[in-house]
Amino acid sequence: MTEYKTIFSAEEIEKRVCQLAEEISRDYSGSRPLFITLLKGAFIFTADLVRHLTIPHEIDFVSLSSYRDGSKRSNVIKVVNHIRADLRDRDVIIIDEIVDSGHTLSLLVKTIGEHRTRSLKICTLLDKPSARKAEVPVHYSGFEIPDIFVVGYGLDYREMHRNLPFIAELTPRLKETSHISDSG
Ligand code: IMP
Ligand code: MG
Repeated sequence: MTEYKTIFSAEEIEKRVCQLAEEISRDYSGSRPLFITLLKGAFIFTADLVRHLTIPHEIDFVSLSSYRDGSKRSNVIKVVNHIRADLRDRDVIIIDEIVDSGHTLSLLVKTIGEHRTRSLKICTLLDKPSARKAEVPVHYSGFEIPDIFVVGYGLDYREMHRNLPFIAELTPRLKETSHISDSG
């Protein structure tokens, strides 16, 4: 049986996601924000977050490819699918699961910023401030973590371990048990 080095338990995550939803609901009362979720990693965080919101809102999805190979970093990023909703004069909140180098989000912020939104904020479950290379304004952050590679709760290593209900560090042992996949 694989032993996980748990960083955040399912209970800790649930509690923090609930607090973030309360904070966002308070900040956006009277507005109908549009959440733009970064696929694939933020799908579980988004599903849990929006179910705790108490304000009307809309959700859209965007895919960016960062040519990431396993846990190695890369800063070649491409927008793969485009956002369907009209962003003009909208309060937009980007949802990501983790801000690492910041390259992905800085590109998306620039792209979305061209649409003359009313406001644009970033909500991430995890933040690795010590790994930052590009500046991104993170408004809502669940947890800060050191520069380690983590999996679970939507986060993958070579497409594996997204389904874990908790967040664990990718240990050499866990790496060994991951199937090799070509898709990032
Ligand atoms: P960036 O370096 O901030 O551009 O992060 C790009 C993407 O890499 C994130 O949205 C995640 O999908 C992925 N990523 C970064 N750090 C981790 C990690 O620790 N585990 C799993 N995926 C990660
Ligand atoms: Mg991601």
